[in-house]
Amino acid sequence: MFNHKGGVGKTTTAVNLGACLAGTPGKRVLLIDLDPQANATRAVLKKDPTEGQPTVRNLFASGKTESSLTKLAVATSVRGMDIVPSDLRLSEAEFQIASRRGREHVLREALQTITAQYDYIIIDCPPSLGLLSLNGLVAAEYVVIPCETQYLSIRGIRQVIEIIQCVRETFNPQIQILGVFPTKYFILSKANIEALQYLRANAKVRVFDAVLPRDVRAEEAPSHGVPVVAYAPDSRAARAFGLLTSEVLRLCGD
Ligand SMILES: Nc1ncnc2c1ncn2[C@@H]1O[C@H](COP(=O)(O)OP(=O)(O)OP(=O)(O)O)[C@@H](O)[C@H]1O
Ligand SMILES: [Mg+2]
Repeated sequence: MFNHKGGVGKTTTAVNLGACLAGTPGKRVLLIDLDPQANATRAVLKKDPTEGQPTVRNLFASGKTESSLTKLAVATSVRGMDIVPSDLRLSEAEFQIASRRGREHVLREALQTITAQYDYIIIDCPPSLGLLSLNGLVAAEYVVIPCETQYLSIRGIRQVIEIIQCVRETFNPQIQILGVFPTKYFILSKANIEALQYLRANAKVRVFDAVLPRDVRAEEAPSHGVPVVAYAPDSRAARAFGLLTSEVLRLCGD
């Protein structure tokens, strides 16, 4: 999940797509929280991680990436989904690796030791263009771009696509944009309706058919430590994530 704009629904999409994929029989999902805000971590754990508990920060701080992701992953409130949690001190680690050789490949290398254990790995990027997001993009096969159905958010998508193209040319030739996921759509807002029409007409990349409506259930769920698809399975938001998951599976050929 990548969009350097903040508050567009990256984390909400990461935890709910993850939960839907984990609901497929026999599939195992790993969520990686690459954001020092640790919102994904809080959204899928009933109790906050204890002080000093290892987090994804250890991966970046240690300098030895081999095999450590397995030790960092913990079970979430969703059956079949684990998370590599984050904490605020991840932002210190981002500075620590700034001068290290291979700093863009830390996550990609670490993932090699764990991919066989999971069917899907979802990376929740922070709202920035720093080394953490870059590590996420260098490690990813596909990018989902959550985007608010607001004019300025939609105009920002061009920059997001340019950044991904730049990563493709420099570090990760395999990376593909899976699509833009329109979020926080309010059917009674003329501005939202026009923005979605503009997006569908002008996007240079695929826009998912699924649209995440504004839904108070989606706002409530994180404080219960469960994704909205488990908290309110009949909600409009949960239904949108069901549709998104079907599209993602179809596009990934699964
Ligand atoms: N469909 C929705 N309806 C209403 N509120 C929503 C919806 N989806 C997300 N939110 C709320 O909007 C806020 C931002 O969502 P989220 O944290 O998923 O965005 P983000 O892109 O990950 O943010 P950041 O850039 O800070 O990491 C959160 O408070 C979340 O609960
Ligand atoms: Mg987030």
